[in-house]
Amino acid sequence: MAKLTKLDDIVSLCKRRGFIFQSSEIYGGLASCYDYGPLGVELKRNVREAWWKSVVKMRDDVVGLDCSILMHPMVWKSSGHADKFADLVTVCKKCNARTRVDHLKDHAEEHTEHVPIETAQVDAQNLSKKVCPGCGKIGQFGEPMAFKLMFETQMGANADDTMSLWLRPETAQGIFANFKNVLDSTRVKVPFGIAQIGKSFRNEVTTKAFIFRTREFEQAEIEFFCEPGTDEQWYEHWKEKRFAWYIDHGIDPENLRFRDHDPDELAHYAKACVDVEYKFPFGSGDWQELEGVANRTDFDLRQHQRGMRSINDWYENDRDLTKITLKEEAEDYHKGPLSYFDEQKKERYIPYVIEPSAGIDRSTLAFLVDAYDEEEVKGETRNLLRFHPALAPTKVAVFPLVKKHGMPEIATKICDDLKKSITCFYDQKGAIGRRYRRQDEAGTPYCITVDGQTSEDNTVTVRDRDSMDQERIAVDQIKAYMRDKLDM
Ligand code: GAP
Repeated sequence: MAKLTKLDDIVSLCKRRGFIFQSSEIYGGLASCYDYGPLGVELKRNVREAWWKSVVKMRDDVVGLDCSILMHPMVWKSSGHADKFADLVTVCKKCNARTRVDHLKDHAEEHTEHVPIETAQVDAQNLSKKVCPGCGKIGQFGEPMAFKLMFETQMGANADDTMSLWLRPETAQGIFANFKNVLDSTRVKVPFGIAQIGKSFRNEVTTKAFIFRTREFEQAEIEFFCEPGTDEQWYEHWKEKRFAWYIDHGIDPENLRFRDHDPDELAHYAKACVDVEYKFPFGSGDWQELEGVANRTDFDLRQHQRGMRSINDWYENDRDLTKITLKEEAEDYHKGPLSYFDEQKKERYIPYVIEPSAGIDRSTLAFLVDAYDEEEVKGETRNLLRFHPALAPTKVAVFPLVKKHGMPEIATKICDDLKKSITCFYDQKGAIGRRYRRQDEAGTPYCITVDGQTSEDNTVTVRDRDSMDQERIAVDQIKAYMRDKLDM
């Protein structure tokens, strides 16, 4: 049975134990922005590392990349974001709340990240029956309008060389812009992927539920380039791999499902798209997008080829993007600068792209929610986070049973030794039972205790977080034992 966790309990544990804090809290907080505390930063690093390991390190056909957040504005003109990356919004005449039109059905519960403007326009015709999520009034909405989602900023110190730039709303475009660089500087051959983890920014109309939807967030994206005609097979491959990744890292399969996008829901670039959804504990439990896997066809590389041809217009038009219309292909696009030459087949084509696009913060929230548990132990409530060992912020805690008889010295030495390869925490404060409970709440899989017997036979106890079982092992076996248990 899938358990029902309350989001409030998770938020409170995150604050209490230093996982996640509200940004700028000392000044009253900044809406939808969050900071990761000492335990949270380790957890998030482990989520990133687990993703990177599975899609880059463990594969021979994916390489990594780290692009800048600020990019040439033509990138966003070519990708379509400059013109199309907007939500259709309406303002309630009674309470002035601004809401996404596609969020108005069913009291503002939504299923997708950003519904294409064209689809949302159809919905806008029915505003008379919609309920305002702010005040509950029905059909009291103003004319829907497009709300641009990209944050704008200025670059340059002098008035005459200042230009407007956008903070990237997805990491994907940095990958497309570097497709040729990677091709020319490595030995990759299609089919291959480029993976990137990094911050993205969207001026979301509605933010939601803790770190689920924020205006600054981290994405983990792969653009996997393949020969047209093989795209459907690679789409299936990535669907399966990405679904399995969550389960392999501890998510209960009951809380995970696929949801195919309807044709009218597809983004302008996609031939097919599926969401990996997680049953997040908002309201009474709600399926929400955790990750999208899309077949982006050759849309992006073709668009950038067209953009490369329009770049002179951009300069001539005094950098006013609104005046640029991307030039149509003057030649066969297959031969363009971002095409790929298949040495074996002796043919040139623009690769198709399969894109698994995950959110690091959103995955972190799913891992937190899924790991959270409460149980009764000897009449007391035990709160614990049953993290997969690869994600646990601290892998091992080491305690002396008491602060005397040489126990702290032995425990410190064990801890220092383990620290070379494992995230390890030393604690000698308070009763041993309370120390165990603190580590349960932090999600630490193993606690090692040095006790009276240690100085007699050189053994310690190792306590398992989930079962609370303890076993005695020799001090010189600790490293091998942990390596085995933590699969390192
Ligand atoms: N390149 C495709 C793309 O960006 P998306 O569905 O808009 O697709 C992909 O975003 C993933 O990024 C989402 O599944 C989610 O995990 C994460 N994400 C998107 N917007 C977010 C936000 N405002 N806050 C947190 N995570 C977000």
